Amino acid sequence: MKRLLLVMLLALLPALSLADAHDADLERVDIDVSDKAAMQDGAQTFVSYCMGCHSARFQRYERVADDLGIPHDLMLQKLVPTGAKIGDHMTIGMQPADAKAWFGATPPDLTLVARVRGTDWLYSYLLSFYEDPTRPWGVNNTVYPNVAMPNVLEALQGRQRLDCMKAPRVEDDNKRHDPLTGSPPTQETCDQLGIVPNTGTLTEDQFNEKVKNLVTFLAYSANPDKLQHRRIGTYVLLYLAVLFILAYLLKREYWKDIH
Ligand code: HEC
Repeated sequence: MKRLLLVMLLALLPALSLADAHDADLERVDIDVSDKAAMQDGAQTFVSYCMGCHSARFQRYERVADDLGIPHDLMLQKLVPTGAKIGDHMTIGMQPADAKAWFGATPPDLTLVARVRGTDWLYSYLLSFYEDPTRPWGVNNTVYPNVAMPNVLEALQGRQRLDCMKAPRVEDDNKRHDPLTGSPPTQETCDQLGIVPNTGTLTEDQFNEKVKNLVTFLAYSANPDKLQHRRIGTYVLLYLAVLFILAYLLKREYWKDIH
């Protein structure tokens, strides 16, 4: 028995260390795909700010409306582009070849991106654009260096910069103190993201919430059956519980005369 336990523990180890190695520098976010209000807000942000370039072509407007509890007429009015029907897939007009010419990279379809990248990655990515005049769009990203996507949420977030801090160099010993001033050596580290105050329409907390809602919508979109799975799961457990009671009563009935 002990050996079996040991084997099981050892078998789990690689999984544990992998989970640790990955995601080290990402912001964590708690996503709740049963929060319909969050997903409605996220769907609106997605349609207004992302669908200029990205499609969600495995998803239909009608399914989104039904899953998120949005009445069809409101959906048509607010989220379905003019000319499209409620039964349509969430595709866009931009041609991949044009996109490649304009951006140097094709904006990928985002229906499944939450499954591919994970929600922590998406959340961190969307919060990590910063000003960088050397890049074609004037922005870079700490999570996805040299990304070809412009910072489309800048009006909401404000202008974000990578701040440099002079910090004492920890690994240096006294011998290398500045001989003139006697002060300890410093090194510049430029890894602090900071928003220039009052350059965005949302506060930092409001913006983080907006992005979280958007990621919640993308998480739902990558796995629209999850809500249903959870409901079915509950029924299955209830069914098993009832079955257990019946089986137990039956067993008692059968063994009554034998004991
Ligand atoms: C103006 C066009 C444009 C808009 C609008 C836009 N993106 Fe992008 N996006 C791009 C391009 C181009 C890339 C490819 C970047 C690359 O490969 O370097 C990209 C890449 C991405 C990626 C990385 C995908 C991957 O796995 O590599 C994500 C995630 C993403 N965009 C999310 C969004 C979200 C969410 C929005 C809306 C808030 C949005 N984008 C709005 C152009 C855009």
